[in-house]
Amino acid sequence: MTEARYTTNNVGIPVASDNDSLTLGPNGPILLQDHYLIEKNAHFNRERVPERVVHAKGGGAFGFLEVTEDVSQFTKAAVFQPGTRTETVIRFSSVAGENGSPDTWRDPRGFAVKLYTSQGNYDIVGNNTPVFFIRDPIKFPDFIRSQKRRADNHLRDHNIQWDFWTLRPESAHQVTWLMGDRGIPSNWREMNGYGSHTYLWENAGGERFWVKYHFKTDQGIDFLTQADADRIAGEDADFYIRDLWTAIDKGNHPSWTLYVQVMPYTDAADYRFNPFDLTKVWPHGDYPLIKVGRYVLDRNPANYHTDIEQAAFEPTNLVPGIGPSPDKMLLGRLFAYPDAHRYRIGANYAQLPVNAAKSPVNSYSKDGAMRYQNPGDPVYAPNSYGGPHANPELAAETASTYGLQDEVVRSAYQLHSDDDDFGQPGTLVREVLDDAQRDRLVNNIVGHASNNVSQPVLERVFEYWRNVDKTLGDRVASALKK
Ligand code: NDP
Ligand code: HEM
Repeated sequence: MTEARYTTNNVGIPVASDNDSLTLGPNGPILLQDHYLIEKNAHFNRERVPERVVHAKGGGAFGFLEVTEDVSQFTKAAVFQPGTRTETVIRFSSVAGENGSPDTWRDPRGFAVKLYTSQGNYDIVGNNTPVFFIRDPIKFPDFIRSQKRRADNHLRDHNIQWDFWTLRPESAHQVTWLMGDRGIPSNWREMNGYGSHTYLWENAGGERFWVKYHFKTDQGIDFLTQADADRIAGEDADFYIRDLWTAIDKGNHPSWTLYVQVMPYTDAADYRFNPFDLTKVWPHGDYPLIKVGRYVLDRNPANYHTDIEQAAFEPTNLVPGIGPSPDKMLLGRLFAYPDAHRYRIGANYAQLPVNAAKSPVNSYSKDGAMRYQNPGDPVYAPNSYGGPHANPELAAETASTYGLQDEVVRSAYQLHSDDDDFGQPGTLVREVLDDAQRDRLVNNIVGHASNNVSQPVLERVFEYWRNVDKTLGDRVASALKK
């Protein structure tokens, strides 16, 4: 028999009642001295942290990455050395909907991985798509506002979505993806994850490589039709959270095989696509997938708020042997995430158990709201009292010198020979999709664009899809004109 436990207030004082406030007689006023009543309601008023400005709806789990292959010729990062097993937390999400929105709305899905490595936390904050809608972080707030709610009526609006997309043709690759089958995965287990950006790897000999990450689902890819997704959105808004929780709870542990594409450092300058442009993939034929290991989820969160809602993923978390590339989106994101976490969770978010490194933390950061573990003296560096000191050899930052001789400009990426906003989405439509997938793509575009999109924007929609693929554009135009 478990021992009886008695309710206390937040500092352990036993409380007299879970049900009745302290009043002057049964019908009299409530007394201010009922500090438990006040504590309970005041704390309730402060239960929420602000939801994420994007990717607000999500769920996650814990597990491990096991490196089964040898990629040490490409990186010295401890996490990717042969046989290394590293604990992880992942958070899956939708992008545009608020916390509580239906899981099955058409949207990219977040695939945010935190690896608690022996050299500090390494985060791969990716999506279930290898590309993105824009290529410059200056456009991120604009893009997101076009997908969220209007200022006047607080409604999401397909007209403003198509207005933005058709004004920014670099969105075509991601929008083709979004309108295809993969725009609504059947659940989070049956979809891939992509680091999407190009990263820099450095091996023990100082040789550098560009890499892209691919987490391929071992469950197989599956999707929902628009009709099924719409029905499920009404029946069970938390369909994906429930699916993941139930699978892990039953011992059905989802896994992904991790691959990388590796490009020699000097290939970047002459590659046929600008390799740092996030609206492009590196075709597998040019840079084949190289297997790294197995990523497994085997533990559900014990508490949603502390394990998932307060989890802080940040592309800034790069460990020795791994660095950023000149991808402008990635560089913009290095600022955005820690900034969001200081606002959303608080300055000391890194001390929360889900965010805390499992390797030693010898930081000189101290104090601040909700700090509960502080370094002692000395509180400054350098010092002669035995405090930690930086070790450049250990840290050896992996940085690229790519393009450093250039002038300071505000400009689009330099075009490489095959760079074109419509080329790769055209290949996807013509060479990857089969007839049934193309039919569903047309139906999804037509269904989406027939909802409240104005005539001038529609004209641009036809043009946009004709640029991706003439036949596709004609089919969209003729269906929408009807
Ligand atoms: P490949 O034929 O080698 O690869 C095509 C890839 O497309 C497949 O491996 C699969 O990626 C992905 N795919 C399959 N079905 C769909 C679908 N319905 N919607 C979206 N993606 C799908 O050709 P390339 O590498 O030359 O790429 C051709 C086009 O495929 C690209 O322009 C891009 O649009 C798309 N693609 C390419 C990826 C890459 O990294 N090269 C990754 C994903 C898509 P996966 O194995 O990752 O599931
Ligand atoms: C979440 C900014 C592009 C994937 C977020 C958050 C911000 C943000 C502020 C909320 C973070 C939080 O409160 O915890 C940006 C900016 C971008 C950008 C400024 C472009 C310049 C991308 C891209 C991807 C991506 C390209 C994927 C490749 C994610 C994911 C989350 C997220 C998965 C949710 C992380 C989680 O589960 O906690 N983004 N983002 N973002 N972003 Fe981005």
